[in-house]
Amino acid sequence: AIPESDILPLSGRIGVEIRNVRLAGDLPQPLFDEIHRLLLKHKALFFRDQHHLDDAAQEAFGARFGGLVPHPTIGALAGTSSVLELDTRRTGERDSGQGAGRADQWHTDVTFVDAYPKISVLRGVVIPAAGGDTVWSNTAAVYERLPEPLRQLADSLWATHSNAYDYAAVRPHATDDDRRQFDRNFTKTVFETDHPVVRVHPETGERSLVLGNFVQRFVGLNKGDSQKLYDLFQSHITAPENTVRWRWRAGDVAVWDNRSTQHYAVNDYGDAHRVVRRVTVDGEVPVSVDG
Ligand code: SIN
Repeated sequence: AIPESDILPLSGRIGVEIRNVRLAGDLPQPLFDEIHRLLLKHKALFFRDQHHLDDAAQEAFGARFGGLVPHPTIGALAGTSSVLELDTRRTGERDSGQGAGRADQWHTDVTFVDAYPKISVLRGVVIPAAGGDTVWSNTAAVYERLPEPLRQLADSLWATHSNAYDYAAVRPHATDDDRRQFDRNFTKTVFETDHPVVRVHPETGERSLVLGNFVQRFVGLNKGDSQKLYDLFQSHITAPENTVRWRWRAGDVAVWDNRSTQHYAVNDYGDAHRVVRRVTVDGEVPVSVDG
């Protein structure tokens, strides 16, 4: 078992750092079960100094949670079956569509497909001397604290998610070439799907909000009304009280429950080099409060 003294809360509502665990594909089952339990409870787990992990070992650890799925349009890093690399110096083929590896919009990973990933495991490879933190929000805690009328509204809404979001609106300084690369890579296949705005977690039964950058509009509402409502719900998700911020070092690993979180990679490091690598675990089609 992991002693209490090795489990360090990082904020009031989300995130713990776990010390003195060496992540690997062959973790003993009781230790893995405890990590899984802590993940469901705290939504985001952080492990420092996992320098021994290479791509294969990261995949082996991630696969303990379930089958790994490569990103649906960017594909897997060469030599791996499922690793997504976000590298600020690499454009073109591997452009994440988020501005050369900068995921600086609040999102949940890959919500533009039906059964989007349930868990993500992210490894810090090259980290800027200053900046480049990532912030996570606990969308179950947000739901629980919404005023009752807003909770009822959320319960009744569905949203349309797509990877073909308005790139120019998010990246006003993007060049035509950036735009073409985004179309060629991130949106080379366009996905669109509807999710309930509130999903019931298949393991905990908790309700959480499913929104983020891939939302295009709410079902039955026009773009203008959708944007206002989206901003209202997102303002609760991004409130500092509901978040945790991780200051990366190379070799760190973050694991999050992608069913009950959103995250944002802070883009405050200019031209400094930043590389992170992610694996994602196959998820379930979200179930609404109506079953
Ligand atoms: C991601 O969105 O999965 C990457 C977050 C990060 O770059 O910190």
